[in-house]
Amino acid sequence: MKKFALLLCAATLALPVFAHEIDRAALNNIMTRSSIRRFQKKAVSKETETILLKAAMAAPTAMNRQPWAFIVVRDPATLKALAAAVPGAKRPLATAPMAIITCGDLSKAIPNNTFWTQDLSAATENILLAVNACKLGAVWCGVYPIPANMRNLSAILKTPKNIVPFSLIAIGYPETPQKPKNKWNPALVHQNLW
Ligand SMILES: Cc1cc2nc3c(=O)[nH]c(=O)nc-3n(C[C@H](O)[C@H](O)[C@H](O)COP(=O)(O)O)c2cc1C
Repeated sequence: MKKFALLLCAATLALPVFAHEIDRAALNNIMTRSSIRRFQKKAVSKETETILLKAAMAAPTAMNRQPWAFIVVRDPATLKALAAAVPGAKRPLATAPMAIITCGDLSKAIPNNTFWTQDLSAATENILLAVNACKLGAVWCGVYPIPANMRNLSAILKTPKNIVPFSLIAIGYPETPQKPKNKWNPALVHQNLW
């Protein structure tokens, strides 16, 4: 009984401390993310792929519509075709062993509203953060709203009409470690009014 009371007391005392504790590792993961465009010849495991996709689907979406779908490409011929189809992806896809193409599913999106693009941006950033946490590297290559990029990816990946390619993320083990850029600028922050 005495032992139980002691335990309860310790737990109660520990709780407020835990609630206010800053998760430094989580913040560090955000602050150390950097775009990576050259990769080692090393495959990304299926387990890691699942972690990245789970992170994507953990993102917030307007009205919780989750208007997305993800295409994982590892086939070298398809990666080559994607590199030729999206100019911004040419360099990273020259060495990346895999890519994830995030897509908007317009059949699930809020009608007459482009919130789905923000939902897909959140999913894309979540993948980039999970990539960094897994000690991999990645770069977000813009697809939407460039008509040629979207058209080309739809044709290569044989997507149905309701599916719109949104971003292409080249992923792999970084060739060399990359220092994150320091973008912090307090002059850009306004308090209460501009
Ligand atoms: C919407 C969007 C489109 C981008 N498109 C490309 C691209 O096509 N090719 C590329 O190499 N990087 C692309 N990037 C990555 C940016 O160049 C990169 O995030 C920026 O230079 C800042 O560097 P950092 O990610 O290392 O902080 C894109 C990023 C965003 C958010």
